[in-house]
Amino acid sequence: RHRLVIDCDPGIDDALALLLAAASPELELLGVTCVAGNQPLAATADNACRVLDLAGRHAVPVFAGCSRPLAHGEPRCNLVHGEDGLGGVALPRTRGPSDLHAADFLERTLERADAGQVTLVAVGPLTNLALTEIKRPGLLRRARAVIVMGGAAFCDGNITPSAEFNFYADALAAQTVLAAGANVSVFGLDVTRQAAMPADWIESLAALGNRCGDAARALLRGFARPHPLLHDTCPIAWLLAPELFTAQRCTVAVDWRPGLTEGHLAAKRLPAGGVADGHVAEVFIGVQADPLRALLRERLARLP
Ligand code: BDR
Ligand code: CA
Repeated sequence: RHRLVIDCDPGIDDALALLLAAASPELELLGVTCVAGNQPLAATADNACRVLDLAGRHAVPVFAGCSRPLAHGEPRCNLVHGEDGLGGVALPRTRGPSDLHAADFLERTLERADAGQVTLVAVGPLTNLALTEIKRPGLLRRARAVIVMGGAAFCDGNITPSAEFNFYADALAAQTVLAAGANVSVFGLDVTRQAAMPADWIESLAALGNRCGDAARALLRGFARPHPLLHDTCPIAWLLAPELFTAQRCTVAVDWRPGLTEGHLAAKRLPAGGVADGHVAEVFIGVQADPLRALLRERLARLP
């Protein structure tokens, strides 16, 4: 069983990732930390509360974290998720985030003697994880794994020609996390572009007959037509069904300097047994989309 903290910026695909995790008994959700990204911080933290409560997970604590990237005065938001970050789907609000800062929750969690059992899944800009590492150098190494959605290693970017949104939104944080010496896995656009949900699959969620299925359908209907990509579900799905994914061991670095390639993930494939001359990560490059869709649908069916 994976003990998990999800760091996110809901965000429609973040919301689906939270639902997938909430539905999966293989995962023990210790907490959800939020960061400015798709929306400003107040909205992402609020949206995380709404999504967890929709799934009946009122006891999972939510922590608000960084309101802007390390090297910029304002967050760089992503408007593709609508004005509220959830495509206008009005989920009821029953609580707000806890008073503890997300980076303090991460610090406390990683300081615990059993930190080696804890997996961090980060599917927004990496500011909260980077801040934790800056405050307590070496702490991210204590996690069992640090699994990141971000980057476009061997394909085009989605926010600039060479950068993916999460890495662009806080490139210095992304580099800080990749350079922390932790056990890092990277799910970038190379793999997540294969995780498209076609319209007939989205409509088929109506047949589940539950409120989470209905909400997922409503969330996805307005998102990145015609084939929304569920980027943020990929790292969660990998924990549940690793056999669906393929990866390549690479040396990795993120360009954090302002300019045309800010946020670019530079990855160099390492041959088997090759000696690394930089920071190493597992860079995911493939997923079997049909079983991924089936897994997501089957898990959504388990929710209220
Ligand atoms: C990433 O950007 C965000 O808009 C999504 O939630 C995802 O985490 C994809 O580039
Ligand atoms: Ca996200």
